Amino acid sequence: MPFTRGTANLPNVTERRGSGVLTPALLAAVRRQFRLDWGGVHGAPHWARVRLNGLAIAARSGARVDVIELFAFFHDSCRHNDYGDRRHGSRAVDFAHALRGELFQIDSAGFDLLAEACRTHSDGGMTGDLTVRACWDADRLDLWRVGITPDPRRLATAEARDEAVFAQAQQRAWAWVQRYRR
Ligand SMILES: [Fe+2]
Repeated sequence: MPFTRGTANLPNVTERRGSGVLTPALLAAVRRQFRLDWGGVHGAPHWARVRLNGLAIAARSGARVDVIELFAFFHDSCRHNDYGDRRHGSRAVDFAHALRGELFQIDSAGFDLLAEACRTHSDGGMTGDLTVRACWDADRLDLWRVGITPDPRRLATAEARDEAVFAQAQQRAWAWVQRYRR
């Protein structure tokens, strides 16, 4: 099992081929500063599912895979609680900025997309750059983990509403809920 509550396991980022931007050293640095339950609703299993949701959207839309993968593992990484925490997106941007160049590489245009996606991912946005919208939707497609069915009208990409993408996201989240509640 890739995630066990309270253990030192790092998330599996080899499931489905990505950009290679997520390295063990980067994931370890993210983990070191994470304050909440590593295996919880805003922890590593969620990030791994956001990554897979995002890769599925990217495969159909051409959104940037490296930005999506970084978004998956940064966007909730600086949360101070599992509730509102209005500033967690901005803290994630600052944290990503601090690690950029040392633990991951990305061009300036890519970093700007990552920053926008992280900063605004809780705002319910529906318009803007395709890659940013893909990041938001990848996160929204994992709402099933907290008992919420994503509203297709609130998904900002047609690819996230794709029947197969939608169903796979549901399946992944539900499988985790079954394990986590045990
Ligand atoms: Fe999230």
